[in-house]
Amino acid sequence: MAASLILRNSTRSILPYPLHTQFTPPSTLATKSLSLLNFAKMEGSEITEEVRNKAGEKDLSSKKKVFVAGATGSTGKRIVEQLLAKGFAVKAGVRDIEKAKATLSQGNPALHFVKADVTEGSDKLAAAIGDDSEAVICATGFRPGWDLLAPWKVDNFGTVNLVEACRKVNVNRFILISSILVNGAAVGQLLNPVYILLNVFGLTLVAKLQAEQHIRKSGINYTIIRPGGLRNEPPSGNVVMEPEDALFEGSISRDQVAEVAVEALNFPEASYKVVEIVSRPDAPKRSYHDLFGSISQR
Ligand SMILES: NC(=O)c1ccc[n+]([C@@H]2O[C@H](COP(=O)([O-])OP(=O)(O)OC[C@H]3O[C@@H](n4cnc5c(N)ncnc54)[C@H](OP(=O)(O)O)[C@@H]3O)[C@@H](O)[C@H]2O)c1
Repeated sequence: MAASLILRNSTRSILPYPLHTQFTPPSTLATKSLSLLNFAKMEGSEITEEVRNKAGEKDLSSKKKVFVAGATGSTGKRIVEQLLAKGFAVKAGVRDIEKAKATLSQGNPALHFVKADVTEGSDKLAAAIGDDSEAVICATGFRPGWDLLAPWKVDNFGTVNLVEACRKVNVNRFILISSILVNGAAVGQLLNPVYILLNVFGLTLVAKLQAEQHIRKSGINYTIIRPGGLRNEPPSGNVVMEPEDALFEGSISRDQVAEVAVEALNFPEASYKVVEIVSRPDAPKRSYHDLFGSISQR
């Protein structure tokens, strides 16, 4: 995004996002010969399962499939990689399938690409999500360009389209990568430099807040993840998770944002919640059961 570029090149340190931040997410058994091996990864695990046949080969039709919008993005591709590593099947919703194949590891039979531009309406998106996805993770974000309405089209209407598409194909789990400070105006952050900067370029945070409000009214089981400034570097601290409108500064590795998005699928404690996340070196290491469980629903 345009604001991303500006902040990335900045050398001053007055901004809540640190300067190194880059502003740029079983079935029943087919035959009796199959044996079910449940790979519940963590306490409270809800949906990660693998089925293997007698030869020990994975039965891909039994994997839980997650649709990832924005799968070619810096966070989206990490979400795809982590989902695959945890035994999910992934339908990567992308604008350009050839570019996606170059960006994401190929050759994994559990990864499929499907064309999905979130600005093209909910019918097309519903067809892309299909009747075999059990959850949608949205890691889209407008790309900088001449279209000043792009944030509104992608980060607001695009996300709304995705939610409506989920309703059309009865997908009842939605994870959104949003941002801290989206509600900044209402909570005394109107003069926060990041709030100002990100809204100067197409009202990005306001657009994201509109989409969040739509999700919350939709009835869908949501987890809205609001990260601080995103970094490409590996984690340098532990995840700090707070309720909405509590964090106004800080940053986090995209690896950790992807992990939070994937773990949200595993923990019922993440349902119907807005969580704000940054990482801090001095923060204690906490389980996701504990982190999500510490946030109340509103
Ligand atoms: N940067 C930060 O510091 C920061 C901080 C907090 C929150 N966030 C938010 O976190 C999310 C992820 O950020 P990121 O920097 O990892 O993202 P990113 O690398 O900028 O990737 C954006 C993704 O959105 C896709 N996209 C753009 N327009 C689309 C459209 N019309 N239809 C479908 N997909 C579209 C892009 O696809 P193409 O590859 O085809 O362009 C790309 O996959 C964003 O919502 C961002 O606003 C960012």
